[in-house]
Amino acid sequence: MSKTEPPRTFEGDFAVPRHVAIIMDGNGRWAAARGLPRGEGHRRGVEALRRTVRAAGDLGIEILTIFSFSSENWSRPPAEIRELMTLLRHFIRNDLADLHRSGVRVRIIGEREDLDPEIRNLLDEAESLTRGNDKLILVVAFNYGARAEIARAAQRMAAAVAAGDLAISAVTADKLASYLDAPDLPDPDLIIRTSGEQRLSNFLLWQAAYSELVFVPTYWPDFDRSTLESAITEYFRRERRFGGLIARTGS
Ligand code: FPP
Repeated sequence: MSKTEPPRTFEGDFAVPRHVAIIMDGNGRWAAARGLPRGEGHRRGVEALRRTVRAAGDLGIEILTIFSFSSENWSRPPAEIRELMTLLRHFIRNDLADLHRSGVRVRIIGEREDLDPEIRNLLDEAESLTRGNDKLILVVAFNYGARAEIARAAQRMAAAVAAGDLAISAVTADKLASYLDAPDLPDPDLIIRTSGEQRLSNFLLWQAAYSELVFVPTYWPDFDRSTLESAITEYFRRERRFGGLIARTGS
């Protein structure tokens, strides 16, 4: 969104949160509750993701960040990892053209170095094809862990200090933030976790400093536009407690 456009509003009333991040949790439990294999939960999770991207664009959210595969997810059984990788490949291959047509810009955060080259190429391709789009930024956290992201930032900053390009006295919180994976994006206003779990699980730990956290009982495959709207309504309810006396803190 250009800086000159008026803020997008929710139900004609409040400016929508600019940046919403989602921990998509509960695919396995959704499947188990129906006597289905976990893979079916993940497949339905991809459908929920498609719905959510569309809804986010319609609602005027500028940035949607999704936790699609954490660095810790590698400890799952190999068959489930293969299934998740296949889904990611299909998601990028099948949905990329649609996302591009809808004006979605894809960005990836997380560690890319050690990934299978085919996956790495797909991620690179998704980013480069959609680079010019500005309807919605979809940030895919893939092979992502917040502590590792912060450690990588510290490493890059230390290298700059060692090279004499950065003074030790210039090492500040803002400076460290500038070495994170997507330093140009504002911090999330709202982080949603589905499935009733109430943890951040190593997701955006640095960026979540001032985010509102909303936990919804819905398993991810059942997530849809109305669940997203309810979470946004909860976000406004908290905002409105300040009664206009205190400006929103955060990014
Ligand atoms: C959590 O459910 C979800 C994940 C580990 C991965 C999220 C993946 C998708 C929504 C589909 C893949 C989409 C892409 C773009 C790769 P869980 O398995 O932890 O559920 P559980 O806690 O009930 O076992």
